[in-house]
Amino acid sequence: MRIFISRIIPEAGRRLLLQAGHTLTEHAEKRPLSHEELIGACTSQDALLSVGHSRLDDDFFSRCRHLRGVALMSAGYDQVDIAAATHWKIPVSNTPGVLSAATADTAFLLLLAVSRNAFYNYRRIITGNWGFFEPTANLGIELYGKTLGIVGLGKIGADLAHKCKVVYNMRLVYHNRSASRFAAALGAEYLSFEELLQTSDVVSVHTDLNPATEGMFNAAAFARMKPGSIFINTARGKIHDEQALTQALQSGHLWGCGLDVTHPEPMQPDNPLLTMPRVCILPHIGSATVETRNRMAVMAAENTLAALRGEKMPQVLNPSVYG
Ligand code: DGY
Repeated sequence: MRIFISRIIPEAGRRLLLQAGHTLTEHAEKRPLSHEELIGACTSQDALLSVGHSRLDDDFFSRCRHLRGVALMSAGYDQVDIAAATHWKIPVSNTPGVLSAATADTAFLLLLAVSRNAFYNYRRIITGNWGFFEPTANLGIELYGKTLGIVGLGKIGADLAHKCKVVYNMRLVYHNRSASRFAAALGAEYLSFEELLQTSDVVSVHTDLNPATEGMFNAAAFARMKPGSIFINTARGKIHDEQALTQALQSGHLWGCGLDVTHPEPMQPDNPLLTMPRVCILPHIGSATVETRNRMAVMAAENTLAALRGEKMPQVLNPSVYG
């Protein structure tokens, strides 16, 4: 059968599809496909393995209703109208779990980098501003014994919380829609969103993007955060209001921030956040390790193969399509 893959994926995933005897069509250009191009590309295909953040909406699913399945190579699926896929009886799957450790590592990396002004200090070297040693200049802050507030204590948040507890003996608090199954083992205390903002020295976001979390970190939320605290977001850029965040940093209310996600992506190179000290920004590399991307490609390929065999996709997001 025929599979359209919307970007080049790791060989481990491609191999599985080819070994099963399927024909692959891959979008090899280094640019995203437009909505119409993606629909056109799927016209004569049996399945789509979708990489990146192409919007898959009702228009897409109604015009591609012949697809036997859509396998996302991502854990997040905020770009997909799952209700529309279900309406058109198209199973959609994602790649949960396999990228948790790598994404938690990225949050930890940002946390350390922000606390010690790492990116700013690197820029001092490459711009010829290393200067002379001043005992009171370019100081960071330490994390030992401080309070980490996790918003969205799922697997990624729990991995970060574990690291922060083991390495820095941080007190752990969290806020979720419902109690987290990870909380007891970590010794993490549930707080309301308000209490978490007021209590935490570091707030790290690990929730998915949904109508309740979009813009959750607005000017009012940043104002309630502890003076001198750190904001980390490795989830989705739309969860924070960038202008409000910039103001909270410019006013000195926040110590700093670390972002692996922005809105829009890519961030424009003249964005004022990029030149601010204590701000560390990465280009959405949360899952970008060889091992994790291999696991994601294999999981997406296995979901695709199941759909083409007429079987339930192992990581299906809309199981009701199977009746
Ligand atoms: C995910 O899997 O959702 C990551 O953000 C990469 O897209």
